[in-house]
Amino acid sequence: MDKRLANSRIAELRKRIEKHDRLYYIDNDPKISDAAYDELRRELEGLEKAFPELVTDDSPTKRVGAPPRSSLPPAEHLMPMLSLDSTTSADEARAFDERLRKALEKDSVAYTAEPKFDGLSLELVYENGLLTRAATRGDGTTGEDVTPNVRTIRSVPLRLLSDPAPELMSVRGEALLPLNRFRELNRRMTERGEPGFANPRNAAAGALRQLDSRITATRPLTFFAYEIMKMEGALSPETHAGELAVLTGHGFLIDYHWKECDGIEEAIAFHARLTDARDELPFEIDGVVIAVDSKRARLAVGSRSRSPRWALALKFEPRKELTDVEDIVVGVGRTGKLTPVALLKPVDVGGVTVSRATLHNARDLERKDVRPGDRVRIKRAGDVIPAVVERIPVEGQKRKEPFAMPDVCPVCGSAVEAEGANHYCTGGLSCPAQLKRGIMHFVSKGAFDIDGIGGRTIESMVDLGMLDSVADLFRLDRERLLELEGFAEKSADNLLEAIERSKDVELARFIYALGIRNVGEHVAGLLAMQYGSLDAAAAATEEELTGIHEIGPEVAASVTGFFANERNRGTVKDLIAQGVSPRPPEKMTADLPLAGKTFVFTGTLEAITRNEAKRRVQGLGGRVSSSVSAKTDYVVAGNDPGSKYEKAVRLCVTVLSIDDFLSLVEGD
Ligand code: IVH
Repeated sequence: MDKRLANSRIAELRKRIEKHDRLYYIDNDPKISDAAYDELRRELEGLEKAFPELVTDDSPTKRVGAPPRSSLPPAEHLMPMLSLDSTTSADEARAFDERLRKALEKDSVAYTAEPKFDGLSLELVYENGLLTRAATRGDGTTGEDVTPNVRTIRSVPLRLLSDPAPELMSVRGEALLPLNRFRELNRRMTERGEPGFANPRNAAAGALRQLDSRITATRPLTFFAYEIMKMEGALSPETHAGELAVLTGHGFLIDYHWKECDGIEEAIAFHARLTDARDELPFEIDGVVIAVDSKRARLAVGSRSRSPRWALALKFEPRKELTDVEDIVVGVGRTGKLTPVALLKPVDVGGVTVSRATLHNARDLERKDVRPGDRVRIKRAGDVIPAVVERIPVEGQKRKEPFAMPDVCPVCGSAVEAEGANHYCTGGLSCPAQLKRGIMHFVSKGAFDIDGIGGRTIESMVDLGMLDSVADLFRLDRERLLELEGFAEKSADNLLEAIERSKDVELARFIYALGIRNVGEHVAGLLAMQYGSLDAAAAATEEELTGIHEIGPEVAASVTGFFANERNRGTVKDLIAQGVSPRPPEKMTADLPLAGKTFVFTGTLEAITRNEAKRRVQGLGGRVSSSVSAKTDYVVAGNDPGSKYEKAVRLCVTVLSIDDFLSLVEGD
């Protein structure tokens, strides 16, 4: 076939596939058999393979996902993505209405009421009708770019239906995993021995944040649109009802359970009806969004910093169910905290099977007086772990003995210490439970961000004695990795490379990664900013620490306590000895001579060790990377330099001899 012919056939096929996708995924009204549909796709794939130059981003073949990316880059939203004020009380909804009536000087305000989808909100940007970017909400201003992942969602139009299309349109909506698909996914995961997701929302988040969108494609998400955040080159609808109609016209999926309400009481009645109906819905919702219908009125009342004044989420009460406690066990968390967990007779709570519920701590357990064999009410609210609400006395039942917290850690046998309402295992990192969770935390996204090693791998590594401390991660070798289930040469090499790369880590992440009790990402950032180096932070006294705005006595005591512990100090030292070098915050290094400069070392340096060279560069505000790119400023070549040297020459990167390097860092 010649190219012209192919081009027109490709256009024809795409149009037909899009049409049938729409009939299937949006209108719920398929018009051809699966086999006929597959045949269209196969023909399109064949033609695109023969003429790769004719492949475009809006082709339906892109729906199967693209090769993995190395990270999810940040994406700034065109308009801030606000959140909603929320309440479970109808009276608060009435107060919301009263404020609006006053502000708008009206006797009655027209609202729209619609389901509040319990998924993940996304911003989709269409330029001249083509989907060019999709981003998660993030902090409201900047989210993560998940475009290839979102392209796999069949109910997201890759191209708007309207002709001509608006120059620019940004659409907000919610991605979610329908309940039947969630159950199916969890069943598949459990069969493979992986822990399932706690709820559809977590499953949807996991699917969307994949680096490999081909995995997203296997987790069939749905997208409901509900807001046009920005529109250029076309008229914006004047009401929210009109907006939903426009979105439908563009080919988006809208949930039909929405209603125009004349006054707040109608909206409250809608909430009551939906409370009863929600168990019949094929997806999770966690309340009703009540919003002023008129866009002009919305502008008139405006927004606060985080949420609009014109909308309110009237949430449902958490779902509650009765079931029996089969046993009570104790789990050990990363910080050694013991959590009593009730093992339950499995019960369906709004479509999710619950077989465990937390009892938080000894005080909670005692107050609720829950014992094995008891009948309890449990609740599951949105994304929180199911919890035991209360015990329901059963007449005539003979109860078992009260459950007592153990004196020794159920995992490692170390002594247990009570601290306020909580109990802690004193085993520290010698407790495998704490070690495993500590390592998971260490490699997690906000910490060392090491890809390619998950919870199950860490568990087996600890069980096999390959990891006794976080520093052992940097001693892993290829051979031993290959002995592990699930590792092939490529995945082992990728992991080792990710570990190597992670050695160049910001100080804040390093501090966070240590897993100091009460030190989250924010506090770790404060410490890094204040002290600029690990040694300085480790030497800080409680008094100095509490002098930092936002750090209280409890956090200060955790920090000094952590660094006073010999084993912890040993781990930190070991990490540094393995070549990990925490980098001070950039603001603090901006004035240093090598600020903003990136170095790569290759070959044997002889005069100085790699670690020492690295420390020198970082001490002067520079960065060390393991691979050469056009952004590299200097390649330092020792004896027998390898391919990095050749690449540097090819990219015209300045190459320094070891002497040049030493005179540079010694300030000549
Ligand atoms: S309207 C200015 N409508 O619930 C906010 N939000 O905290 C406009 N959500 O993350 C949002 N379903 O993304 C709206 N039908 C719906 C919604 C909805 C779910 C999300 C929203 C936000 C959260 C509220």
